[in-house]
Order: sequence, then structure tokens, then C-alpha cells
Amino acid sequence: MDKIIIRGGRPLSGRIPISGAKNAALTLMPAAILTEEPLTLRNLPRLADIDTFSHLLNQHGVSLTLEGSRPEEFGRVMTLKASRITNTVAPYDIVRRMRASVLVLGPLLARCGEATVSLPGGCAIGTRPIDLHLKGLETLGARIELTQGYVKAIAPDGLKGGVVRFPFVSVGATENVLMAATLAHGETVIENAAREPEIVDLAHCLQAMGAEIDGIGTERLVVQGKTRLHGATYAVMADRIEAGSYACAAAITGGELELLGIQANTLGAVIEAFDQAGVAVTPTREGLKVARRNGELRGISVTTAPYPGFPTDMQAQFMAMLALADGASVLTETIFENRYMHVPELARMGADIQVRGRSAFVRGVPQLTGAPVMATDLRASMSLVLAGLAAQGETTVNRIYHLDRGYERLEEKLSAVGADIERVSAG
Ligand code: EPZ
Repeated sequence: MDKIIIRGGRPLSGRIPISGAKNAALTLMPAAILTEEPLTLRNLPRLADIDTFSHLLNQHGVSLTLEGSRPEEFGRVMTLKASRITNTVAPYDIVRRMRASVLVLGPLLARCGEATVSLPGGCAIGTRPIDLHLKGLETLGARIELTQGYVKAIAPDGLKGGVVRFPFVSVGATENVLMAATLAHGETVIENAAREPEIVDLAHCLQAMGAEIDGIGTERLVVQGKTRLHGATYAVMADRIEAGSYACAAAITGGELELLGIQANTLGAVIEAFDQAGVAVTPTREGLKVARRNGELRGISVTTAPYPGFPTDMQAQFMAMLALADGASVLTETIFENRYMHVPELARMGADIQVRGRSAFVRGVPQLTGAPVMATDLRASMSLVLAGLAAQGETTVNRIYHLDRGYERLEEKLSAVGADIERVSAG
């Protein structure tokens, strides 16, 4: 398995192009199932998860063509054409590798009146149930049974509009129900809908396909179902978590980076947290410039929450940065039950972190030291890379297939701004 070797201690400086958002792309791709016409997505990132989703859609009968796959180009153009769905089963061997596969459930039900999707099972950060997805689709008239590890859903007379009330915010459940509602008979209201920018991106793409959606960006979405949607061309939004991760790289190394193609508005609470930690994020003509304001990082308190709160997907990266702050920090994770696996690995690099229940207490230390560390999930992996960039000496990050799921050309982007980083095939 490949690994990444980083020799740390160098302030980063330069410009990093931000790729299309993984978590937007993974919900825009299944939207292609909702129409037999071509959906062209621009600015698609080159990521393992996108390849896995392509494979999943292909076995449903969706044809996918890629343009602009020249290596020097960031962002690919992919046209997805679901003229006929030849298979409505999403098999375990694909779903277990990528839980976002469950996002074909709503579109398949809406398009074909049936879907059989493997239960995704848990992952490193939590049990990750999908009960809200299923309850939401049942509210739209689907009949659902769980059999042999699969969700078997049917709606022989099509889906009908209804009022879906989520007891708590779920990004994926909102996406599944929103996509299904676009082809349901009548009006659907989704209350306590997730408001993440990736949901707004999906809603805008569905509108471009002819869907009628009101309340976009709010916790109450109102959808007038249509008999059919048409094709469209849509550009995937920039990845706010990738941008936030590289902003942490500038802060933790004491350098200055300009992140190209990202707007401040999708990073809301993260910019506020950077400001409290002594990191200035300044809009420029092409994106955002990030650098420490005057020398030291300061300890802060951060609690993760659904958008517009501080994103759980930035918790691990901030923890790495705050490990070197002057003072103590408290990070509280409210979304997932087990998202602290980066803590023991950071501790091996000299970080002083105590986890008690949902909170991690970080005492800043003057420096970290390089060490061989192991990645356990996507964002934990990035926090180890960040720590390695700042640490004295050499850090080897193993199991970097996690990183390849969410960070396009990571070592290329970081080398270009001065990092001493290389990928080594471990044969
Ligand atoms: C999406 O996951 C993202 N993944 C995650 O990003 C992100 O961390 C998460 O939203 C929260 O922002 C994609 O978009 C592909 P949820 P999702 O449904 O949809 C519980 C990354 O690193 N829940 O909002 O699975 C769930 O267990 C990934 O890029 C239920 O109990 O998240 C969690 O505790 C990691 N029942 C909480 O809700 C359900 O039916 C929020 O989950 C659904 C969710």
C-alpha cells in the first residue's frame, strides 16, 4: 500500500487551486438517474470515490463519458446518460466501500419505482445508520423492507408528495428525499432539512434539470413534483473542506497560501474559528488568502454542528493546528460518535490531547516531532498530514487510500507551495 513521507518544518507559501467538492459530486452524480437525458457535470474532482460512484452507476446502466482528462487539468467534465436503467440493485461489494452509494436509493425509486440497495454498514467514525433516509422515503409512499442486509424499496404506483419532518439534521437523508421528491406526484415539504452548501448545489442542479424547489438554503424545502426532468450542464461547487484543510496547512506551518476558486460564504463558521485562533482569512480576486495574523496561534473552543455551524469534517484538521497553539483548546464533536481516531496518532507526534466523552482537550505544545503514523479515515488522515507538515523531522503516513478518497493530487498541490512531501509505493 502507498504511503506519504513528509519532512516538516517549512512554512508553506504560494497558490493552491481548490477542486470540485467531493460531497457535492457524490450527490450530483446519482441525480443523473432522474432523467433519461444527459447530465453534464463540470469541475468534477479526480478522486477514488468519484471512480467508485462511476462504477456503481455504470452497473445500473448509466453511461458515463469523461472529457478533459488531461493530467494538467484540474476538474474533469463528465456526461452521465441514464437512457435506460437496466439494474436497480446496488450491491454490497460497492456500497461497503463507499457509503454515499446509498444516494442512488431515492433516484432509483423515483425513476423505476423500485430499488434494492445494500445497507452500507458502519465505518471508522460511527455506525452511520440510514433510518432517516428510509422513513423519509416511506413518507413519500415507498414500501420498504430490510432483507439479508439489503434495503428493498418499491413504489409501484410512483411516489407521492408528503411532509417529511427530520427529527435531526441529516445531509444524506435530505439529499435522498429531495431527489425522490422531484418526481413524486404533488407537493413535498422537507422540514429540518440540512442546509449544507452541497445541498444548495444539488438543489440548483435539480432546478437546472427542471425541478421546482423553493426554500433552497433554508431548513424548509418545498418541492412540486414533475412527471419528468430534462438534462442539464452544471458545474460542481468548490470543495469547502479541502479549502479549509489547506488553510490549516498555512496556519500550522506559519506560511501564507492563496486558495483559488473558493468563496468565503461557504466557509462561514470555519473563518470565524480561524479568526479566534489568530489566523486571518482574506478574500482576494481569485479566492482566499490565509496566514497567521501575528505569530502565535491561540487556543479556542470549537463545537461541531450542522451548517451553518462548524463542520464536523474540519474537526480533525483544526485539532492538528491547535496542537501547536499558545494555550488550551476544547473541541466537541456532536455529529459522529467516534471521530477522534486521529488523537492517539497525533499524540505519537507529541501532541497533548485528552479525550473525555464528546470533547477533546488540547494543550498547545511548542513543537511536534515526525513519526510513522496510520490513517483511519479521510479527515483523520489529513490531520496527520498537517501535523507532519509542521513537525520537526520525518513523518510517514500509512494507509493513504483514505486520503485519495477526498483530496485530489494532495502531494502535488502541497509540493507546489514548498512542502517536502512524496508518495512512496510500498509495493
Ligand atoms: C455527509 O455524511 C458527508 N458525506 C460527511 O462527510 C459529513 O461528515 C456528514 O454529511 C455531516 O456533515 C457525504 O456527503 C458523502 P449525516 P452523511 O446523514 O450524509 C446520523 C467526509 O469526510 N444519521 O448528516 O452520512 C449519522 O450517523 C464525510 O467527507 C442517522 O442517525 O451524514 C450522524 O451521526 C464523512 N440516521 C448524523 O446523523 C440517518 O438516517 C449526521 O449524519 C442518517 C444519519
